[in-house]
Amino acid sequence: MKKEFDFLVIGSGIAGLSYALKVAAHGKVAVVSKAELKETNTAYAQGGISSVTYKPDSFEKHIEDTLIAGDGLCKDEAVKKVVSEAPEQIRQLLEWGTRFDKTEDGQFDLHREGGHSEHRILHHKDNTGAEIQRALIEQIRSHKNITVMEHHFAVEIITQHHLGKNTEPWMQDIECYGAYVLDKKTRQIDTVLAKTTMMATGGVGSVYQTTTNPLIATGDGIAMVFRARGIIENMEFVQFHPTSLFNLSVRPSFLITEAMRGYGGILRRQDGEEFMYEYDERGCLAPRDIVARAIDNELKQRGDDFVYLDVTHKDSEETIKHFPNIYKRCLSIGIDITKDMIPVVPAAHYLCGGIRVDLNGRSSIQRLYAAGECASTGLHGANRLASNSLIEALVFADSAAKDAVGSLDKIQHNQRIPEWNDDGTVNPEEMILITQSNKEVEQIMSKYVGIVRSNIRLNRALGRLEVLYKETEALFQKSKVSQKICELRNKINVAYLIIKSAKKRKESRGLHYNIDYLQKLDF
Ligand code: FAD
Ligand code: SIN
Repeated sequence: MKKEFDFLVIGSGIAGLSYALKVAAHGKVAVVSKAELKETNTAYAQGGISSVTYKPDSFEKHIEDTLIAGDGLCKDEAVKKVVSEAPEQIRQLLEWGTRFDKTEDGQFDLHREGGHSEHRILHHKDNTGAEIQRALIEQIRSHKNITVMEHHFAVEIITQHHLGKNTEPWMQDIECYGAYVLDKKTRQIDTVLAKTTMMATGGVGSVYQTTTNPLIATGDGIAMVFRARGIIENMEFVQFHPTSLFNLSVRPSFLITEAMRGYGGILRRQDGEEFMYEYDERGCLAPRDIVARAIDNELKQRGDDFVYLDVTHKDSEETIKHFPNIYKRCLSIGIDITKDMIPVVPAAHYLCGGIRVDLNGRSSIQRLYAAGECASTGLHGANRLASNSLIEALVFADSAAKDAVGSLDKIQHNQRIPEWNDDGTVNPEEMILITQSNKEVEQIMSKYVGIVRSNIRLNRALGRLEVLYKETEALFQKSKVSQKICELRNKINVAYLIIKSAKKRKESRGLHYNIDYLQKLDF
């Protein structure tokens, strides 16, 4: 079935929903989400959202902290943009009904996290993302111009080559007209046509065995744009969060927020000894790549499964007040964080690279925008500063919304788009192949393309992945389209992009650490 909208938004996290709310005053909007609206990385965010709020903090300090974390690869204009536009986007979130914690004197209760020189993280207890998601969903559901398509899976974007139409030198002669979208209830594939399309499909954590990301984070948007020949960049920079709860049987891994180290939490070996000062003078508040590598090294050297995060020296009431959800979750498995140390391990958490966009959120494919975790804006460079991603998503979704609204009158729908041709026949019993291949991708990535890399591991990963790629493409060609086979295919594409980018970088920088090239290159 063909459906027509002015704006198509793929993804219902902070990037997709904030963009949808901003364009909705100007035309008909479809928000497509492969699960329920609320099942997003956004809803899992704990620590908070960074913005300069009070003195002595300043834009200069936030810019400086972001650049230091980014290790020489941030784009200055993107950093300045996000930092200086952040307060206005926070005001907008408040207007949409988001609540942030305040102190008794009515000021925002600001947290501090690793790499930040000031307290500048606005938060709602220890579940900031869920609060933001709640407020956005309430606004979205009540907007008459927005059609919500939950349990709809975007399979491919619809693109065609158009010679001579590019407006910028780095843009390609390709235009996007919407997407083919699988309605999971009817199993039909709709042709959703739009004048502009926003890709806001989030992260890629699910390509790894241990991740803080929910199952939806399979990198679909990045894979779709890659297959459509759009520019993807900086894929080697996968951020591992140093502290997820050690609990092998649970996926995703439950995050123990970095704010807990800002609050005074101490990382200890299993014998109780503090170790972070042996790695960095900032101790437990060093940027998270350094902390994650330090923990990885401790585990490998000692053969331990986890290290401890300790807040038992802090006031119990304060701990429970600041971290009620972490307290409850740990208690449910017998750990009282006011008395017991928390066993933690690093987990794949965030992708710094993705679909290349300019300062207006435009991808290299015309009429296609990207924002949020699937986009590479230049803000994070080689390493993201904690709590900079929610604000990045808001700022770039805002700029993309302005650009898309501004170009609306000049764009016509393309009516000559064929419907999806699904003549696959393979039956669901082949699911076993998909399940097994998924496990293999995750194992390859965790074993060979994790926190510490080497040339031999990367080559082995690529060789193993190529086998899976061929098998999966063959299966895809003869299968009826399903979310499972598409997600597997997307994960393989994303894994390929991470490995290829990692192989290309002949240095160690930021999140990319290769023991065969320990130095940074001058450039
Ligand atoms: P998401 O919120 O992940 O939304 C993606 C959407 O795309 C979902 O609706 C999904 O269903 C949809 N989708 C994906 N593929 C398809 C498809 N093929 N078809 C249809 N729909 C699709 N950042 C901070 O700044 N501060 C924090 O404190 C913080 N804490 C975090 C804690 C955890 C545990 C995690 C996992 C992340 C955290 N982050 C934090 C990172 C931040 O939450 C994410 O980067 C951000 O929320 C991403 O938002 P998004 O809108 O880009 O994507
Ligand atoms: C956390 O709360 O530690 C996560 C913050 C982030 O990923 O930005």
